[in-house]
Amino acid sequence: MATNVAILASGSGSNFQNIAESDLDITIKVLIVDNPNAYAIERAKKLDIPYRVVDRKHYTKETFEKEILDILKECDVELVVLAGFMKILSPNFISKYEDKIINLHPSLLPSFKGPEGIKDAFEYGVKVTGVTVHYVDSGIDTGKIIAQEAVGVEDTDTLETLEEKIHEIEYRLYIEALKMVLEEL
Ligand code: GAR
Repeated sequence: MATNVAILASGSGSNFQNIAESDLDITIKVLIVDNPNAYAIERAKKLDIPYRVVDRKHYTKETFEKEILDILKECDVELVVLAGFMKILSPNFISKYEDKIINLHPSLLPSFKGPEGIKDAFEYGVKVTGVTVHYVDSGIDTGKIIAQEAVGVEDTDTLETLEEKIHEIEYRLYIEALKMVLEEL
């Protein structure tokens, strides 16, 4: 039976759309965004996927997470997929979905953690960076790695061309990694 999934996003939502259009055996019960201006909302409307806006500005950290947990419960969510979700989840939240929260990060962890993985790697001048899919634990970008893929940074690359290369890898790698996760559920 298809696994009930929630996707959490803060911005463009291109990975959300890619997952929604994939052949994964999932039902996206809800897209949750923490930002009312996230373009991911437009994608959810076009894809006819239910979405909820939990605007971080209107909550304390505790009530923000409580609201999201209530939605997950209401939707019988079995797996939480972060796709460009830029808020750090508390240990309390994570303990409710232990080994059931997956994140996508645009660098080869443990290098370049944090919200600007692509830019930080590019500005550092690395010759190799990449994409990581990992379980979320109570650290920041520290959970067990599920899949990783490297990409070379060429002298001709700009931040924009590197971003494009990383996104192309993300679209393929996140689906492959989620397939592995779903098999083990
Ligand atoms: C992706 O590149 C993802 O790896 C990154 O945000 C982008 C979201 O793009 N996530 C992080 O940096 C998490 N720390 P999208 O909204 O188009 O899917």
